[in-house]
Amino acid sequence: MSEAVLTVRDVRKTYGRGDGRFDALRGVNLEVREGESLAIVGRSGSGKSTLMHLMALLDEPTQGSILLDGQEATAMRSSQLNRARNKTFGFVFQQFFLTANQTVLENVMLPLKIAGVGRRARTERALAALEQLEIADKAKNRAVDLSGGQKQRVVIARALVGDPRIIFADEPTGNLDTATGRVVEDILFTLNREQGITLVIVTHDDDLAARCDRRVHVRDGLIVSEEVAA
Ligand SMILES: Nc1ncnc2c1ncn2[C@@H]1O[C@H](COP(=O)(O)OP(=O)(O)O)[C@@H](O)[C@H]1O
Ligand SMILES: [Mg+2]
Repeated sequence: MSEAVLTVRDVRKTYGRGDGRFDALRGVNLEVREGESLAIVGRSGSGKSTLMHLMALLDEPTQGSILLDGQEATAMRSSQLNRARNKTFGFVFQQFFLTANQTVLENVMLPLKIAGVGRRARTERALAALEQLEIADKAKNRAVDLSGGQKQRVVIARALVGDPRIIFADEPTGNLDTATGRVVEDILFTLNREQGITLVIVTHDDDLAARCDRRVHVRDGLIVSEEVAA
């Protein structure tokens, strides 16, 4: 069995305070193994996105810890955390919109710019990612002028450009029609199979969840069951 790349250890997350407190996660334990595809499923409001944000080190647990390659994220300095996040993760989140008025190429280069990669290398790598997603012909278009499926390809290109080990996807097919959603799914699973990129996918879609190696069900802030593919 391969190593745990991420470990979620007795994690609790409470939003708000006083009478407005809400326990979104109430003691979650989970390991993500290098190279696997993991689906996080459950009803709306069950805590899936909260769990994913914590795993992606975008937010901190109220209690418990998240370990990246065995190292406690809460013990890392913020500069170290930013670097680890930038180097290790790619994000396919609906909240991380493309910047509408920038070109596709500029959008895909952004993570490299943040990482301090020079302009020429940035451009080359972004174009390579767009070619891999078969959308390099739109490099000069403004993001706003693309279809939903094209935008999602660009988001995946942007997630890939930093050569991540893990891609986190929150409802990656949620806004797409069935056929386009299937194409986006195929792209993600091809990356998993051919490049060994670990996938962590939050989804409502049973067909998408069924394609993953493992499914965990979240209910009311707890993991209530886990299934491994046959
Ligand atoms: N920033 C926040 N402040 C207060 N409550 C929140 C916040 N984010 C999420 N919640 C609440 O926590 C619960 C879990 O939310 P979320 O993780 O987004 O669920 P899911 O992704 O499964 O729909 C919901 O009841 C939601 O309203
Ligand atoms: Mg959600």
